[in-house]
Amino acid sequence: MTCKGQLIIRPFVEGRDEIAWVSITNEYLSHFLGPDYIPRSQEDMEWLKKSPWYNPDGMFVAELEGEPIGAISVDVDERAGRRHGTISIELRLRYVGTEYERQMLLFSLENLRLRGIPYARTWVRDNMVERIKLLEAEGFKKVRSFSMMKMRLSEFKHEIGECRHIWFRPIEPTRNSDIGLLTFLLNEAFKGQFGFRPTTVEENKAWLSQPSKELYGVFAYWDKTPVGYIVLEVSKKLVEAGRKVGEVSSIGVLRPYRRLGVGTALLLEGLKWLREYGIEEAMLETDDDNPTKAKRLYEKVGFKVAYKEFVYERPVSLH
Ligand SMILES: CC(C)(COP(=O)(O)OP(=O)(O)OC[C@H]1O[C@@H](n2cnc3c(N)ncnc32)[C@H](O)[C@@H]1OP(=O)(O)O)[C@@H](O)C(=O)NCCC(=O)NCCS
Repeated sequence: MTCKGQLIIRPFVEGRDEIAWVSITNEYLSHFLGPDYIPRSQEDMEWLKKSPWYNPDGMFVAELEGEPIGAISVDVDERAGRRHGTISIELRLRYVGTEYERQMLLFSLENLRLRGIPYARTWVRDNMVERIKLLEAEGFKKVRSFSMMKMRLSEFKHEIGECRHIWFRPIEPTRNSDIGLLTFLLNEAFKGQFGFRPTTVEENKAWLSQPSKELYGVFAYWDKTPVGYIVLEVSKKLVEAGRKVGEVSSIGVLRPYRRLGVGTALLLEGLKWLREYGIEEAMLETDDDNPTKAKRLYEKVGFKVAYKEFVYERPVSLH
């Protein structure tokens, strides 16, 4: 496709751009992620606006002759330090692979340069062929690979090495002390991992209270000591649409209690809840180079790789 009109990229305007933003995002992501993608709604957008992750400073709309065709977010997570910014570009499918997509990427890099951020980071799924081509042409390098893994819940088995010493207690999302404990366990478990920075109580409270999702979590106790947790998510919209899938959102075990079967026991407990909820398939995402070899735990329980996602990075200024 030849690009005739001039692309204008301007800041997102609250109260005006939400409908176009949600529509462009849904068009792009549902195409590439398929039935696993949970379409966003205006309600999700309103929830995001009140969440700790909302940062309108980094949101831009790309317009062609007054028509929004791209939703660009250039996010700098101040809590993670100012080493890198994360670029997300979603656009109308008819413009994928065109010069306009490249202009959106160059705009995002320039925005990071102006904000004094040295590195740019972005995510792609393995089937986003045009995007990968563009990133590589613009000097981005693949730095990490993640696997999306799935399993049928009719297939999970017990007696596979799960720890019998521990007991479980459901996480009560409205209880501040539970959110505090979850924050502590999660931050301890993930310390030092790729892309991780300590989460806050406020963020975890928002995570567990998303209106469009059913969330369930448990703590694992070794005698009186909390040693791990698991959190599962079910999208109410996917279930309403007849997709009986649920997600293992996060799992962690404190270092001294690892390799004792606690992770296996937590996973089985979480999958049991999903199955009782009427879910038929579980999915999760894991870093292929997870330093604690989480992928092996998932394989042991029965998960298989369905597809890959990659993280690309480049210095904002190339010399
Ligand atoms: C991943 C994690 C939850 C596993 O918890 P755990 O209690 O150690 O898990 P288990 O003892 O049940 O291990 C189950 C299997 O996983 C594999 N495994 C777990 N840790 C491993 C390691 N360090 N090296 C190799 N294999 C490992 C083994 O196959 C193990 O079975 P085995 O001990 O019978 O060989 C824990 O290491 C953790 O909290 N990691 C940090 C947080 C994290 O990365 N979470 C996952 C994000 S996707």
